[in-house]
Amino acid sequence: MTAPLLAVRGLTKYFGGLSANEDVSFAVDRGEIVGLIGPNGAGKTTLFNCLAGFYAPTAGTIEFDGETFAALSPERAARMGIARTFQIVRTFASMTARDNVMVGAMIRNKRVADARALAMETLSFVGLASRAAATAGTMTVAEQRRLEIARALATGPKLLLLDEVMAGLNPTEVREAVNLVLRIRDRDIACVIVEHVMEAIMPIAHRIVVLDAGRKIADGPPDVIARDPAVLAAYLGD
Ligand SMILES: Nc1ncnc2c1ncn2[C@@H]1O[C@H](COP(=O)(O)OP(=O)(O)OP(=O)(O)O)[C@@H](O)[C@H]1O
Ligand SMILES: [Mg+2]
Repeated sequence: MTAPLLAVRGLTKYFGGLSANEDVSFAVDRGEIVGLIGPNGAGKTTLFNCLAGFYAPTAGTIEFDGETFAALSPERAARMGIARTFQIVRTFASMTARDNVMVGAMIRNKRVADARALAMETLSFVGLASRAAATAGTMTVAEQRRLEIARALATGPKLLLLDEVMAGLNPTEVREAVNLVLRIRDRDIACVIVEHVMEAIMPIAHRIVVLDAGRKIADGPPDVIARDPAVLAAYLGD
């Protein structure tokens, strides 16, 4: 058996007296799609912030690609191959789509011409080639979410953390986003997807991890999770 790409062990994050993540352990294999779900305030975004190096965990370890850390920095996480999108889009509004993606591409390409070529290729992969020269701030929500995915992909990740990239999208756009996730997986990039749009995540996830009030309450195949009494109770109580 080969080691998983990511193994989170006992991850705990306190904000003052509030535990946003409490003793969370789970693993993600290479190329796997894992859904991370749970009611509002369950700790999903906090977990992403710990994995992407934005927050230092209070306790626990993060093992990624064979190395174990108590905490990461955003730069370290990006270099190791962990990329993320933000729940509230953080594109550089006054920059073009191409330049936004170049910010990601520069992590592994020091030559501007190489970064520019990779940015164009990545924009085309997410279906935004025709919008390369558009200013990010003028793009639709759906386009900006794809732009953030492109910026993350351009860093050359092994693991992509997607935080509610389908929120606010219409049914056609949700279908497109699902297709994009499947094409990302085809590139052998593992995805952890935080999503409230269950119809979108349940059919494509290999496994679902459920958080409630900071703790992991379930972890398993989508069909089992959908019938799990603890999961149903957490959602009904929400
Ligand atoms: N920077 C912070 N400082 C203090 N408390 C925080 C901070 N970030 C998150 N929290 C708290 O941690 C808990 C978990 O929040 P988090 O944003 O991780 O939840 P979530 O599962 O992503 O929720 P949602 O589905 O609403 O996005 C909440 O109680 C939240 O108020
Ligand atoms: Mg969140």
